Amino acid sequence: MMRRAILPALLLLAACDSPAKVAFQDASIALPDDPIDLPEGPGRDAVLENCTACHSPSTMLQQPKVSAEKWESIVGKMKKLYKAPVDDAAVPAIVGYMVHVQSLPEGER
Ligand code: HEC
Repeated sequence: MMRRAILPALLLLAACDSPAKVAFQDASIALPDDPIDLPEGPGRDAVLENCTACHSPSTMLQQPKVSAEKWESIVGKMKKLYKAPVDDAAVPAIVGYMVHVQSLPEGER
């Protein structure tokens, strides 16, 4: 997610030095049938920063609707079982975001 935004910016910077040599290209990839983007909402950045290193957003989005407590335990499981480097301070934002996203109507997530 972050990489997609950063790479074109770097290309732009490089373009300032030597405009003739830089070939612009789309640096993003799209996996089939995978909703890559997370819907807008509070806590989205925390999820992007802490949760998308190992799996795509769809792993998180395509879950049965569960409570905030359950999301907290899922995040705990990511940390303990999979050694996810999740920032403790970000956990409430992550949990809040997941609950928010699951409350969206079907078509918006
Ligand atoms: C260090 C790697 C890693 C990080 C970072 C990570 N996960 Fe996971 N996650 C996994 C693995 C491995 C699985 C199980 C295999 C799979 O489904 O890909 C998994 C599975 C899941 C699942 C599927 C249901 C389940 O309980 O297995 C959910 C939901 C999930 N992760 C949410 C999150 C959230 C939310 C975050 C951010 C707090 C996060 N993950 C960060 C590795 C990670």
